[in-house]
Amino acid sequence: MSVKAINETGKLALYEIENKAGMRLQVTAYGARIHKILTKDKNGNTIDVVAGFETPEGFLGDNPYFNAVIGRVANRIGNAEFTLNGKKYTLFKNDGNNSLHGGKEGFDRKIWQAEPMGDDAVKMTYFSPDGEEGYPGNLTTTVTYKLTDENEVSIAYEAISDQDTICSLTNHAYFNLNGDFSTVLDHEVFIDSDKITTIDGSLIPHGDFTPIKGTAYDFSVPKKIGKDIKTNDFMLNIARGYDFNYVLNNDFIHPVATAYSSGSGVKMSVFTDRPCMQLYTGNFLDGLKGKKTYGYQSAFCMETQGYPNACNVPSFPSIELKKGERYSARTSYKFTVE
Ligand code: BGC
Repeated sequence: MSVKAINETGKLALYEIENKAGMRLQVTAYGARIHKILTKDKNGNTIDVVAGFETPEGFLGDNPYFNAVIGRVANRIGNAEFTLNGKKYTLFKNDGNNSLHGGKEGFDRKIWQAEPMGDDAVKMTYFSPDGEEGYPGNLTTTVTYKLTDENEVSIAYEAISDQDTICSLTNHAYFNLNGDFSTVLDHEVFIDSDKITTIDGSLIPHGDFTPIKGTAYDFSVPKKIGKDIKTNDFMLNIARGYDFNYVLNNDFIHPVATAYSSGSGVKMSVFTDRPCMQLYTGNFLDGLKGKKTYGYQSAFCMETQGYPNACNVPSFPSIELKKGERYSARTSYKFTVE
C-alpha cells in the first residue's frame, strides 16, 4: 500500500493510493473528486472506470458533478426551501423550481483541504460557513477515501454543525465498467430493493412509494440496464432513463447493488449504511469531451443517499443534523473480475 502526492498544493492537489494488486485510486481537492479508478479487466489490462478529464483542471469547467462529493444535501429539494425548527430556509433554484445537489455552488465546487492518512487513505476537509447556500450552521465536513488490498474504494463521511441543520452527502462518480464510455445499456445491474420513491414531473418525491417487483424498475434479479429502459412509462419518460431513488433492503453484509460488464469482466459491488441509492444512467450526458466523450447513457451513477426531499416529507426518515451531533456515513465500491 502506498499514498503519493502527485501535486500537493492548491485546489487541484492530487493524490494517488496504490494497493498491492496494483489497483490505483486518484483523488483531487477540487470538489473532493475521484480523478481516476485504475483497475484490471479480465485480460489483465488496466482500465479507468470513472468519467473525467485527462488532468484535474478539467473539473474546473462545466460538467455534471463528475465524481464529486455532493453536499450539503444530495439530490433534489422541492421548491428549493425547507422549514427547520419553525424557520423557513430558502435555497437557490438550480434545477427548475428546485434545488439540486447543494445549490448554486455546492461541495462539488469547493476547494477541500487534502491530506494523506497513513499509507492507504486521503482525508479531505471542508468548512462550510453558517448561511452558505442558505443552509444554517457552520458545518465542518471530512471525507476520507481509502483503498484496500481487496480492491475496495471506501468513502467515509463525517460532519458536525454548531446549529441544527440538514445534511445528506453522497459521491457522484460516473462509472463505465468497460472503461470505454460507449454505453452502459449492456451492463448488468442488481439492486436489493422492492420500491422506489415515486416522483412528480420535476423528479421530486412527496412521500409515496412505487412497488417495483416485476416492473421495468426492478433490478432485484440482475438484468441489463438496457433491457427495459425504453419502456413507455411516466417516470422513465420524464427522467429519460433510470434516475430513481431505490429504497434499499440493506443487511449491511451483502452488497446493496452490483454492476457487471461482460466485456471487461469487471464487477462493482456497492456496500453502504445509507437507506437509499439513486440509480442514474447518465440521461443528461450529451457529448461532453474529457478522457472520453460522454454521450447519452455512456455512464451510470450509484449514489448512496438519505431520502431525497426528506426535509419536506415528514414521513421520510429525517436528514436533520442536530447541533453538535456527528453525521457519519460509509459507502464502498468493490471491484472484482469474473
Ligand atoms: C440526478 C439527476 C441529475 C444528475 C446531474 C443525478 O444525481 O439524479 O437527475 O440530472 O445527478 O448530473
